[in-house]
Amino acid sequence: MKKYFIQTYGCQMNEHDSEKIAWTLDSMGYEISYNREEADFIIFNTCAVRKSAEERVFGQLGELKDLKRRNPNLVLAVCGCMMQREDIRDVVLKKYRQVDIIFGTNNINKLPQLITRYNETGKTVIDVDEDNREIEENLDANRTYSYKSYVNIMYGCNNFCTYCIVPYTRGRERSREPESIISEIKDLALNGCKEVTLLGQNVNSYGKTLERNYNFSDLLKDINNIDGIERIRFMTSHPKDLSDELIECYKTLDKLCNHVHLPIQSGSNKILKSMNRKYTREDYLLIIDKIKKAVPDIAITTDIIVGFPGETEDDFEETLDIVRKVRYDSAFSFLYSIREGTKAAKMDDQVDDKIKHERFNRLQDTLNPIGLENNEKLIGTNVEVLVEDVSKNNELVLNGRTRSSKLVHFPGDKRLIGKLIKVRIESAKTFTLEGTAV
Ligand code: SAH
Ligand code: SF4
Ligand code: F3S
Repeated sequence: MKKYFIQTYGCQMNEHDSEKIAWTLDSMGYEISYNREEADFIIFNTCAVRKSAEERVFGQLGELKDLKRRNPNLVLAVCGCMMQREDIRDVVLKKYRQVDIIFGTNNINKLPQLITRYNETGKTVIDVDEDNREIEENLDANRTYSYKSYVNIMYGCNNFCTYCIVPYTRGRERSREPESIISEIKDLALNGCKEVTLLGQNVNSYGKTLERNYNFSDLLKDINNIDGIERIRFMTSHPKDLSDELIECYKTLDKLCNHVHLPIQSGSNKILKSMNRKYTREDYLLIIDKIKKAVPDIAITTDIIVGFPGETEDDFEETLDIVRKVRYDSAFSFLYSIREGTKAAKMDDQVDDKIKHERFNRLQDTLNPIGLENNEKLIGTNVEVLVEDVSKNNELVLNGRTRSSKLVHFPGDKRLIGKLIKVRIESAKTFTLEGTAV
């Protein structure tokens, strides 16, 4: 039996695509391997969102040259967002000749044909579709966990934030038909799934490309009625489209988890405008205020970019001010990274690297104590945890997530994995909680 190894970079969208690739290879009779040294087929599912992500891929691809020399039968494939870019494909073709198959984010369903073509010709196979293709509805996925699953509800993005490559790698926004989403989730529930995370670059605009009048809140209501599903999450919301109707859903839908990931990117109106985010800091704070009033125990997380072109010390202070006002539970922060082909790449007032790093560190110093204080508030309470796994370095310690998406460690038996249990929180760190099952 041939063995395959998949290395995934980037966001949940890519993780889920890798699950689809795994399903495709399983149905071709391949077997998964977690050790790339023993694999006959290696796939890199790449991310183009920041330069650092691309550099990591190139570094790893370089290492595979040796492996290929030792095992000439090894087949190497590269797919994902980087492969949607012609300039990067050219670099791969010229400098990384050990790569045998290149395919794009829209072409996963064609993998079996591409492998056959490569086996027959022995020549590099390239299949990248730059258009917005019809949504491939019948591609199944090899879910990593049976009790929690990602579900795509839409693909692509129409927002063109000026720093972002995603609209170029994932194409225009298109929503899946509700029936198809609902039937996928019903199937998952029948197979023991308790938690679904709905995926889209901007889930709040779900439904805009459908012929009928059906929006994200309608979808949430329908999913809330599916027996067996206990928790509903979604990623990601864009503040410009977050409706009062969605906020109302947090109050009325018992399965919708008390967590919202709402990327702010910057606290300065000047920078937000230059990023083409289409909201102001005031709009954002108003939404946060409404959400907190509707769901007092909601956890709020965000994405922040430091050092966008033109960001002055005052602009950055406004970002810190938003952090203090919102009091985020946690945040992903990024150093602005130039992406060729985006508008911001051409802006001439790029921020010096040293200043970016210094601001980045100040941002962590502001975020971390607030995250810790929020976590400490949970000490002494009983929280519901979906048990996910055993801890990496201790078999007797389990981990799982609260409804608010916080990671909890606690002693317990492996047989609890996949179950919803109550845990009493006893101590808190900046990024994790510890407790005992009750
Ligand atoms: N669709 C999601 C985000 C997708 S990319 C949304 O709009 O929220 C994930 C995050 O990467 C973004 O929120 C942004 O903070 C960051 N990011 C995107 N492009 C970047 C760039 N060029 N430099 C640094 N960070 C970037
Ligand atoms: Fe990128 Fe903006 Fe689209 Fe998110 S909303 S994927 S940041 S362009
Ligand atoms: Fe995701 Fe990276 Fe592509 S963040 S959409 S894998 S560019």
